[in-house]
Amino acid sequence: MRLNGKVAIITGGASGIGLATVKKFLDEGAKVVVADINRANAEKVVADLDAAGFKGSSSAFAVDVSVFTEVEALVAHAVEVFGKLDVIFNNAGIAGGKPLLDHDPAVDYEPMIRIDQDGVYYGILAAGRQFRDQGTGGVIISTSSIYGEQAAELAFTYSAAKAAVISFTRSAAYELAEYGIRAVAITPGRVGTAIINQFSDELKETFASEQLRGVMTQPEEIANVVAFLASDESNVINGTVVHVDDGYSV
Ligand code: NAI
Repeated sequence: MRLNGKVAIITGGASGIGLATVKKFLDEGAKVVVADINRANAEKVVADLDAAGFKGSSSAFAVDVSVFTEVEALVAHAVEVFGKLDVIFNNAGIAGGKPLLDHDPAVDYEPMIRIDQDGVYYGILAAGRQFRDQGTGGVIISTSSIYGEQAAELAFTYSAAKAAVISFTRSAAYELAEYGIRAVAITPGRVGTAIINQFSDELKETFASEQLRGVMTQPEEIANVVAFLASDESNVINGTVVHVDDGYSV
């Protein structure tokens, strides 16, 4: 029970990596706000967890992370329901893209930057203020990507946003250490979630073959690392990137 007594917000918590992390955090003793733009899915996750023996340990909150006032309301919700906040996992995101020269900035750049980049900034800012005001410190974990560190096909905007997540993490760790706040970014490779499942079986096999074990990573494998990073066992990991890509980047 490495997260006993901790209160966490997990954005994108209704699906994929976020959902697996919600479950792992509850197994480790945390209370969790399942935050997602898809209200119905978030509420279903909480209902299922209540039925599975975790009654009262999670709470659903509908949020669009690209709107700062909604992220502030999300932090206020965690404090109202569970009394405090210890961890935020800025994980909500969208993927996809077009060749650069086919871009319409209003379609292919701005919306993704608002969610994948601004959404993480808002989470860091709103949670960081709460951690400071509580005087307890806290942990900020944010989901970047292998594409945050390298160029890839059809990923111009996604790469930019995910690179910003790494930069935010370094700067937040640097600036917020005086409040006992840590910040860490993770870079998943190919994880079997809705984002990847939209592709053909052939492409999915290629994706898997690019990782050292030759298989698609499971969201639960990422969740295991996030739980460690959220726990006090990882106190010396700060302001850096933890590569959870099965060796993709070697
Ligand atoms: P997913 O599609 O299963 O989950 C994403 C969740 O985010 C969904 O529940 C969705 O409703 C929510 N969401 C989307 N926009 C939102 C918004 N504006 N506000 C609040 N919630 C919103 O996908 P997955 O794979 O679990 O993605 C989680 C994170 O992992 C994303 O940031 C993604 O970019 C990143 N990632 C995923 C990889 C993969 O191979 N699956 C690889 C590298 C990074």
